[in-house]
Amino acid sequence: MARHFLTLNDLDAAELQALIERACELKKEFQEKRMLQTRPGMVLAMIFEKSSTRTRVSFETAMAQLGGHGIFLSPVDSQLGRGEPVEDTARVLAKMVNCVMLRTFEHEKLERYAEYSDIPVINGLSDTYHPCQLLADMQTFYEMRGDISGKKVAWLGDGNNMCHSYINAAKILNFDLSIACPANYQPDAEIVASAPQNVNTACEPHEAVADADLIVTDVWASMGQEQETEERLKVFKGFQVNSDLMKLAADDALFMHCLPAHRGEEVTADVIDGAQSVVWEEAGNRLHSQKALLEFLLQ
Ligand code: CP
Ligand code: NVA
Repeated sequence: MARHFLTLNDLDAAELQALIERACELKKEFQEKRMLQTRPGMVLAMIFEKSSTRTRVSFETAMAQLGGHGIFLSPVDSQLGRGEPVEDTARVLAKMVNCVMLRTFEHEKLERYAEYSDIPVINGLSDTYHPCQLLADMQTFYEMRGDISGKKVAWLGDGNNMCHSYINAAKILNFDLSIACPANYQPDAEIVASAPQNVNTACEPHEAVADADLIVTDVWASMGQEQETEERLKVFKGFQVNSDLMKLAADDALFMHCLPAHRGEEVTADVIDGAQSVVWEEAGNRLHSQKALLEFLLQ
């Protein structure tokens, strides 16, 4: 049975920690120009049913640097867009490539794909989770502040795919996650209930950020919700990460955002472009953490 990475829960705490440490090692090798091609000839197929800059470039580059190759597929120019069932695509690609990354809408589609795949399947983002981003975020915190266990993380804004993956991370790495979302935009109740010791969803923004070590937000309208943008702009107004809120956090608090960001909406320009923001390092770490993930899955 192939090992898949559909949510962070597909790794236990020791595996996740090892992966973060390997990502730091790979980054050092990259910076010192002494990379080794540890997965020569291996091929990753990347199916994108939604747009992407970071995920596509980081996975494709990761495969090239590991000595392998990445193939970009979209519904527009593959048979997936013409209705070929995912179950069939999964069985065909497993005969040709070594690993598949899928970015899609319903998380259930990823699960169905994985069920029929004899090779590892990676979630490159679904409506419900974005686990690859969490690998990069957790690597970034580890590099800059060390062990995250026992620290306080604040999530502000939409209870979306990123928020759900933060809930998974809070449980696995044992940090406190204070979530401030508008009433009708809370994270999924079942996912929240899976981490009762680590997650508090009953927070106002100022409570969530109080003494926090890390503040995280994301766009208010995710891919697929574009038609709700105007309504959401009104509802989320009080949930913007701005300098007044940042002042309530710990003095050395970091700010993260998976990007792309909308300055003036979920975060002000002075915060995302300010001294506490680590968004560029965070984005860059997509490459190194996914290389560690690919090595792990392509043993
Ligand atoms: N953060 C992230 O996944 O970015 P892309 O949508 O550009 O891949
Ligand atoms: N929540 C966002 C993340 C983008 C990387 C979305 O799903 O569009």
